[in-house]
Amino acid sequence: MSSSIDIKSASGTYQAHVGRGILDEYLKKEIASLNPNNLFVLIDENVRKHHSQHLEPLFDKLSERVHLLSVPEGESSKSLAFWSEILDFLLQNHLQRSDAVVVIGGGVTGDVGAFAAASALRGVPLIHIPTTLLAMVDSSIGGKTGINHEMGKNLIGAFYQPKSVIADTRFLDTLPEMEWSNGLSEVLKYGAIRDRVIFDECERFLDGNRNKIPAKTLISLITRCIRVKADVVAEDEFEGGIRAFLNYGHTFAHALERACDYGKISHGEAVWLGMIAAQHLSKLRGYEAEGDFIRKFRPLYHFRVSAEELSSDELNRHMKSDKKRDGDHIRFILLKKWQHPVIETVMDEDQVNEAWQMVFRQISPSTKQ
Ligand SMILES: NC(=O)c1ccc[n+]([C@@H]2O[C@H](COP(=O)([O-])OP(=O)(O)OC[C@H]3O[C@@H](n4cnc5c(N)ncnc54)[C@H](O)[C@@H]3O)[C@@H](O)[C@H]2O)c1
Repeated sequence: MSSSIDIKSASGTYQAHVGRGILDEYLKKEIASLNPNNLFVLIDENVRKHHSQHLEPLFDKLSERVHLLSVPEGESSKSLAFWSEILDFLLQNHLQRSDAVVVIGGGVTGDVGAFAAASALRGVPLIHIPTTLLAMVDSSIGGKTGINHEMGKNLIGAFYQPKSVIADTRFLDTLPEMEWSNGLSEVLKYGAIRDRVIFDECERFLDGNRNKIPAKTLISLITRCIRVKADVVAEDEFEGGIRAFLNYGHTFAHALERACDYGKISHGEAVWLGMIAAQHLSKLRGYEAEGDFIRKFRPLYHFRVSAEELSSDELNRHMKSDKKRDGDHIRFILLKKWQHPVIETVMDEDQVNEAWQMVFRQISPSTKQ
């Protein structure tokens, strides 16, 4: 079972393919149609470690001139220094505009690799092969590429669409436990803003053993998420309006990540807490966002930060310096009701502080399951 989703963008329509064991077939087709002289592969070091037995013979079949570069794991690869290292690798191996760059990995490899493909020779054909749940449902879709700067995350980058995305769920067999919950947060986000069936399909995650989720369920879930993102991006590719809905929970999340110096909390944990806060704030503003559709997944998150280490004053300061602020006030994505997001500037700091209290209650020991 597999599915293909059209993704419309200003630069044309491309497809995302989702399935188990689909990589060889779709990559062969894609490479045959691009017919590159050289094939450049940028691959996450852990993915290479776990999957090279399968991947390296495949690359050899695809092209006589394969150039492979490992991308070290971690956010530090999304740096000017590593981006420049990729450009050296591409240019020193005589990259031409008719060549192809294949990026294989999670959001880190995808973001820095795609930005290198966007900037080398002003853009060369790119294929995304996402290997984390997050990358399959989110970062490989929609054309945002980029790296971090010491002034903040993702401050340098470009919108650049790939030729295709191939999401083979076989990669997920080796995904560490924590990366599943990181991806789950983004999956739940799509449930909250657009597609409630996603919530039902996510129930399988509560069973404990991720590897027992039937391939069919996983493929359906990833397909649904990609559809939501593709629909939103088709309407607002360059984030002038509704693309901001994809940031549901993220205003709170970014503040939490900064308060924890991007160390003691993962992005997915922060997004899950951020969505709880945004739901509570929605209710405080009189909207109908009752229900534990997101809260019920609490057992899957293992927070390493304690409520005592966080203060709402500091978190509010971080939110006010976020690039998505509106003057001195903060713009939130709220829910008028489930699947009906709205962008709203909130002036009432007491309400925001109450939303933070809700976050602190989620991570305090008494609520641990
Ligand atoms: N471009 C976008 O639209 C967008 C959207 C959301 C997030 N992002 C970015 O994505 C990044 C996070 O991505 P991520 O969560 O995929 O993290 P990641 O790329 O850091 O991968 C997480 C970990 O999993 C390992 N890994 C990846 N695939 C594996 C596999 N199949 N088996 C075993 N290990 C594997 C990696 O080596 C790493 O240690 C952030 O930098 C974020 O800013 C971008």
